[in-house]
Amino acid sequence: MAEKEMILVLDFGGQYNQLIARRVRELSVYSEVRPYTMPIEEIKALNPTGIILTGGPDVVFEDGAPRCSAELFNLGIPVLGICYGAQLMQYLLGGDVRRAEVREYGHTEVDIDNPSSPLLLNVPHRTVCWMSHGVYIAKPAPGFEITAHTESCPFAAAEDNSRKLYCVQFHPEVSHTVNGKEMLVNFVLGICGCRGTWKMDSFVDTTVKALKEKIGSGRILCALSGGVDSSVAAVMLSKAVGKQLTCVFVDHGLLRKNEGDLVEKVFGKDGPYDLNFIRVNAQERFYFKLAGVTEPEQKRHIIGEEFIRVFEEEAKKIGTVDFLVQGTIYPDVIESGLGKSAVIKSHHNVGGLPDYVDFKEIVEPLRLLFKDEVRKAGLELGIPSELVFRQPFPGPGLAIRIIGEITPEKVRIVQDADAIFREEMDNFGYNKEANQYFAALSNMRSVGCMGDERTYDYAVVLRAVTTTDFMTAESAELPWELLSKVTNRIVNEVKGVNRVMYDLTGKPPATIELE
Ligand code: XMP
Repeated sequence: MAEKEMILVLDFGGQYNQLIARRVRELSVYSEVRPYTMPIEEIKALNPTGIILTGGPDVVFEDGAPRCSAELFNLGIPVLGICYGAQLMQYLLGGDVRRAEVREYGHTEVDIDNPSSPLLLNVPHRTVCWMSHGVYIAKPAPGFEITAHTESCPFAAAEDNSRKLYCVQFHPEVSHTVNGKEMLVNFVLGICGCRGTWKMDSFVDTTVKALKEKIGSGRILCALSGGVDSSVAAVMLSKAVGKQLTCVFVDHGLLRKNEGDLVEKVFGKDGPYDLNFIRVNAQERFYFKLAGVTEPEQKRHIIGEEFIRVFEEEAKKIGTVDFLVQGTIYPDVIESGLGKSAVIKSHHNVGGLPDYVDFKEIVEPLRLLFKDEVRKAGLELGIPSELVFRQPFPGPGLAIRIIGEITPEKVRIVQDADAIFREEMDNFGYNKEANQYFAALSNMRSVGCMGDERTYDYAVVLRAVTTTDFMTAESAELPWELLSKVTNRIVNEVKGVNRVMYDLTGKPPATIELE
C-alpha cells in the first residue's frame, strides 16, 4: 500500500469526473483528478492506492479516442473502470467492445450475478443504477467474470479479482445509482484497503488565506448576483480583503419578481455585511442587445459579454481594479466543456467570457466545489441560512427560461407566473421537496377560450426537480391539487397565458433549464 493513501481518478472527459473524486473524499480518502494523458512513469512515481478510470463521450475503438497505457493494469494497483473507463479496460485487455443496438440512458434495473464479488458486497440482488451509454461489451477480456447484467446489456459489471481489475458500465458516483456508495466503499475501503483517515482542511480558512496572499493590496471587484454562489464568494472575499472589495450587482432586467430589491436589502448599506455595494440598473441595455436573438447559446454569450462590459465601466469609475471575482462552481466549469467534456451549455460566467477582459486576473474561489459544498462553506462563513439554501438561479436569468426572443412582455409573464408558483409551493409546504423549481415560457401560442372569447396566448411550463448535485435530476412529484391551483391562478392572474404544462422529463435526457 502507498504510504499516503490516495485514489487517482484518470479523466477521460465524462460529465461526472470531479464527482467521482468528491465521492472518494467523502469517504475520507484523498483523491485527485488528472488527465488521461498522465504518463505511466508519473503514475508509477505517484503510486496511488487505487485508480479509477472515468466515463467519457468517445467511442473506444474509434480513431483518436483517448486511451491510457495498458501497462496500467499490470502495476498491481486496483483499477475500477466506469462506463467509458470500463470499455477502455476491456478493449485494451482483449475484450470485444461494440456499438449497442439499444442505447441505455437513465434509470436501469441491474441484476447481480455474483453477490460475493468484492465490488458488489452489500448490494441487493436487484438494484437500480444510472446508465448513459451507446457502446457495450459483447465479450469480456480473458480472465474477466461477468458479475452483473441488465435486460439489454449482458455486461453491466465484470471483474478479474486475481488482478484486482473491476468494471462497471453504469455510474456508481451519481446519486441515482441506489447502491453506488456501497460499491465505492467496497472499492476504496475494501479492495484498495484505504483506512479513510484523511480530513479536508477547512476549505474556507485555506481559501481566505490564499485569497489574502494572492490579492495583497490590490483592488477587487465582485460580480454579485445575490445567488448563493456569488454571495459566498463575496463574503469570503470581504473576509480576506475587507473594503478593498467592491461588489457590483447588475440588474439585467431578467431577475425574478422583486429580486433586485431583495438583493439590495441584504447586501446594500442597510444589510449585515461590510461591503462596498453598487447596484447598476442595466435592463434597457440588455434588452436592446438581446432583441431578436433566439438561440440559447447566443443569449448566454451576449449576456456574459454585456456583464463584463458593465463591470469594466464600473471598475473604471472606481479607479484601478486588479481582480474580478466570479462565483463559478464546479458544475458550471464541467458543463461548459472545459477539459475534455462535451459542451452542453456554456454557462455565461465561464464559456461566455470575451477574449479581452480589462482586469489583471479573474478569481474563482469556488471553482472546485459542488453546490452543497458551497452551502456548507456559506454556513461556515455565517451567511444566514435563508440565503444559503435559496433556490439556485442561473446567471443569464430569465433569458434562458424564455424560449425564443426575449421581450419585456414575456419577461413580465414569466416573472408573474413564477411568483405564483413559488408562493403556492410555500403555501403547500413543498418548497423543500424540490431542489429547484420555476416557471418558464414556451414559445408556443395556442387557442383557448376565456369568458366565451377565443384566445391565442402563450403556454407556461412549470418545472420542479429533485437533485443533489444538479448534474442529474428527476422531475419532482408534486400533488395534483398544488399543480391545479397554480394553473388556475396563472391563467386567471397572468395576462397573455391560456395554458400551463408541467415538465416530467429527467436530466438526462433533458436539462434542468429549458435552454
Ligand atoms: P442545466 O439546465 O444545465 O442546469 O441542467 C444545471 C444548473 O445550472 C444552472 N444553470 C446555469 N447557471 N449560468 C449559470 O450561472 C448558466 O448559463 C446556466 N445554465 C443553467 C441551472 O439553473 C441549474 O441549477
